[in-house]
Amino acid sequence: MENIAKGIWKEVYGEPEVHVPTKYKKVAAKLDVVNELSDSKEGIVEKTVKKITFNKTVRGITLTLPMMPTEDIYGFGLQFFGINHAGKRRFLKVNSDPVADTGESHAPVPFYVSSAGYGIFVDTYRYTTFLMGTSTAKGASRNMTQENMPHEEFSESALYALKRAKEERKIIIDIPNTEGVTVFFFEGNIMECVQRYNLLSGGGIVPPRWGLEPWYRIYGGSNQMSAMLIAKQFIHENMPIKVIGIEPGWHSHSYSCTYKWSYLFPSAEKFIKSMDDMGFKLNLWEHLFVYPQAPFYKEIEECAGDYEVWNGLVPDFATDKAADVFKQYHQKTFIDEGISGFKLDECDNSDYNPSNWSFPDCSQFPSGMDGEQMHQAIGVLYQNLIKEAFEERGKATYSEVRSSGAFAAPLPFVLYSDLYNHKQFITALVNSGFSGLLWCPEVRDCQNGDDLLRRLQTVIFSHQALINAWRIPNAPWKQTDIVKNLDDVQMDDADYYTNECRKLLELRVSMIPYLEDSFKEYEKNGKPPIRALVMDYPDDMNVVSIDDEYMFGDDILVCPLTYEEGTSKEVYLPEGQWTNIFTKEKYQGAKKIHMKVPYNSMLVFSKKDSFDFIQK
Ligand code: GAL
Repeated sequence: MENIAKGIWKEVYGEPEVHVPTKYKKVAAKLDVVNELSDSKEGIVEKTVKKITFNKTVRGITLTLPMMPTEDIYGFGLQFFGINHAGKRRFLKVNSDPVADTGESHAPVPFYVSSAGYGIFVDTYRYTTFLMGTSTAKGASRNMTQENMPHEEFSESALYALKRAKEERKIIIDIPNTEGVTVFFFEGNIMECVQRYNLLSGGGIVPPRWGLEPWYRIYGGSNQMSAMLIAKQFIHENMPIKVIGIEPGWHSHSYSCTYKWSYLFPSAEKFIKSMDDMGFKLNLWEHLFVYPQAPFYKEIEECAGDYEVWNGLVPDFATDKAADVFKQYHQKTFIDEGISGFKLDECDNSDYNPSNWSFPDCSQFPSGMDGEQMHQAIGVLYQNLIKEAFEERGKATYSEVRSSGAFAAPLPFVLYSDLYNHKQFITALVNSGFSGLLWCPEVRDCQNGDDLLRRLQTVIFSHQALINAWRIPNAPWKQTDIVKNLDDVQMDDADYYTNECRKLLELRVSMIPYLEDSFKEYEKNGKPPIRALVMDYPDDMNVVSIDDEYMFGDDILVCPLTYEEGTSKEVYLPEGQWTNIFTKEKYQGAKKIHMKVPYNSMLVFSKKDSFDFIQK
C-alpha cells in the first residue's frame, strides 16, 4: 500500500484501465491540510486491507471486504432514498430517473464511508455494484440447523425482512469490464474520511456571493422583452432575485443545440448589458449535444462519439481538441459578453425515456472511452472545461449540471433533477455532503401556496436558492396552478404568498455571510457546508439513519417539513441546548420532541442563543 498523506493510502489491484476518474481530476489535492487532520481510528485501514480478497471473474473483477454487523455505511453520491446504505446493494450507474432505491443516481460516486472508521474510493467509471453486506459466500451457512418459526404476518416485506443476512457479512465490490482497479483508503471518523476524500479531490469551493443569492429561471416561452419585464417586476416588488436563468428558447435550435441566439432574443448583447445594469446575473441553459447549425460543428465532428443524440454530435471532452473548441467558443461568445454561468441539462443518461435520449453504452469515442465510461464521466468533463473557461478569464462562476461524479468538490456546480418528491429532495441534500456534491432541491410546480412555502423553505437552506419557473410565465407566488398561471389569473391570496416568499428570500440573503463562512471551511479543510447529523454527532446512535434533518454550517440544524407532513413533526435534537431561530424557544437536546409549526414558519435551531442574521 502506498501512503499518500496522513490517513490516505492507495492500493492497485490487477491492471487498472486508462480512463479513470484520477486521470481527469484537474485540481491538485490539498495533502498538506490532510496531514493536519487527526487520525482517530489508527490502524483500521491496515487491518481492513489485509483482509481484502481480489478476484478476476468472467465479467470483470471483485474485491471482497469484511463487514461488521454494527457497521453503518454512507456515501455513493446523490442518493434520494436514505442515508445509511448498510445491508443494501448500490448499483452506481448514472441515471436521470433514479425512481427506485437501487443506487442509480444523477451523480453516482464510487466512494463510501463506514462508521467503523474508514472510507474507500474506487477509481473507476464502470457501472460498479457495491453489495454492502447483502451476500454470504458458499459454505457460510453449512452448519445451520434452524426450523421455521410460526409466521406472524404474510406479506412480501415481512418475508424479505426475515431473509436479511445476519450471519458473517461481507462487502463485495463488483466492477465489470476491467482487469484491475486502483483503490484509495481513508482513515478517521465519518467527518474526517469525508474531509480526506474532499481534500484529495482538491478541497471544496466558495461560490461567488451572487451565486448564493436567490435565483429564478424564467418561463421557457420568454423572449428578450418578457425577460426584461419580469426582472423589472422583481425590482418593483422588492424580490431579492439576483440570478436569472434563461431556458432552451434562447438557442436558435435546442435539443440538440446551436449555441446561437434565437429570434426571441434579437439583440442579445444589449439584453445582457441591460440586465447587468439592473443588477442581474444571467445563466444560460444548454446541452452538450451539438446541432449541425452550431458554429463549431465541423471542428467537433472529428472528436465526437460514433452515435448522435437528438441529431447532435456528442463531443469527446476527454480529448483536448473537443474541450478546447467548446471552451473557447463559450469564452468568446458568452463569458466575455457577461454571461455568469450555464445549466447543463440532460447529460445524465435515461433508461426510461422513450426518445433517443443519450448515446448507447457500446459507443466508441476517439479518446478510447466507451459509452459506459463516458456516461459516468461526461458531467465532470463538462464541469472541468467550463470552470477553466471562467478561470482563464479571471471570472468566477456558479453553474448548474444534471450529472456529476467523482472528485467534484472543487467544481462550482450545483446538481438538480426532474424528479420532484420533496422528501427525497431533502434526503438528497443530506446525502450530498458525504460525496463532495452540491444539490438544489429547486422549487418548480406547487400544489398550492402552502406547498410553495414548504418547498421554498428547504430551498433557502440549501446550496442554491433557486426557483425554476420554466413552465409558468408568472411567478409561483402569484399563481401556483399552472393552467391559471398560463392564463395570467392571480390567486386570491397572491399578496400573502408574495410577502411570505419575499421574507424567505430576504432571510436567505441575510444568511449569506454565515453561509460563506461555511463554504470557506469547505474550501480550506473539506468540511461540507450542509451535512448529515451523523457527521457532527458520530457517537449518537439516534442519528445514524436520520435523513430529513441536517446541519447547515457548524451552528444551525434544519428540519424542513413537506406540505404532506402538515404543521407538526417529531424532531430529534442531539445533545446540548438548541434555540428555535424564529420563536426563540429553547430546547434541551438528546431526545425526540414533537413540535408544531405553521406553514409560514420553519423548524430551524441554533446552537447559539442568538443569531444575528435572523434579527435583520
Ligand atoms: C428539463 C430541465 C428543466 C428545464 C427543461 C427545459 O429537462 O430539467 O429544468 O430546463 O428541461 O426544457
